[in-house]
Amino acid sequence: MSVENKQITKKILITGASKGIGKAIAQRAAEEGHDLILTARNSLELAGLKTEIQHQAKHLQVDIFPSDLSTREGTKKLIEHMVQHHKDLDVLVNNAGIFTPGLIQNGSEEDFELMMQVNFYAVFHLTRGLLPAMISRSKGQIINICSIAGQDPYPRAGLYSITKFAMQGFSRCLRDELKDKGIKVTTVYPGATWSNSWSGADLPESRIMQASDVAECVISSIRLSDSAVLEELVLRPQLGDLP
Ligand SMILES: NC(=O)c1ccc[n+]([C@@H]2O[C@H](COP(=O)([O-])OP(=O)(O)OC[C@H]3O[C@@H](n4cnc5c(N)ncnc54)[C@H](OP(=O)(O)O)[C@@H]3O)[C@@H](O)[C@H]2O)c1
Repeated sequence: MSVENKQITKKILITGASKGIGKAIAQRAAEEGHDLILTARNSLELAGLKTEIQHQAKHLQVDIFPSDLSTREGTKKLIEHMVQHHKDLDVLVNNAGIFTPGLIQNGSEEDFELMMQVNFYAVFHLTRGLLPAMISRSKGQIINICSIAGQDPYPRAGLYSITKFAMQGFSRCLRDELKDKGIKVTTVYPGATWSNSWSGADLPESRIMQASDVAECVISSIRLSDSAVLEELVLRPQLGDLP
């Protein structure tokens, strides 16, 4: 007997939706007919993406909510907006993140603290803020866009790696906590993917992944039936990691 995997419209919040991987996930989710809440700091870029999506699919609900996740206040405002307007959220994609190279021995403490704030603390607080509604509905999915730098030390970027190791720990513990509550937790570990971080890199386009490759996998995880969860997903460029 096959369990039918019906295509159901879901409501998805994507952080860092204005560029790179987050934008690709938003575009792919819109193609699948999902309603979206999109957040990042730049409201003009969010508005442009909303126009683009609704040009393709007028019936989709697209709510844009600019927020700065480097501050507790920004994260709190986003949680309040979600609790007030989107208690029926199905999927939270914790994607917003920043990358600044730097070593533990001499890298900038300010850069590290900012990365911890956006890459980890915002994820921690936002998830906790939105979990009660998911728990009360006994359904939902949390997708954490981590990094291969959260599995192994990343060359010349120990400070960034720490933030992604923290996310890995958070995500795996959360998966364990939410197993029996009907809520899925998916951790995605992408390798190098074309985005802002790579602008100016002297590389052939085929050397690293496209954001759409990561988006495709994220959307596949959303399509699984209620009885299965894609726990962890590692994606790498076909030629492997950059040296
Ligand atoms: N690209 C890669 O090679 C790669 C590899 C592995 C993992 N990742 C991870 O994938 C995620 C997305 O990376 P990406 O390369 O697609 O990044 P990106 O192109 O630089 O986009 C980052 C997104 O996060 C938002 N953002 C940055 N700072 C923010 C803040 N303080 N508050 C709210 N939003 C903020 C940005 O919008 P605003 O600037 O408008 O705020 C943008 O929408 C990150 O978590 C990253 O660590 C990336």
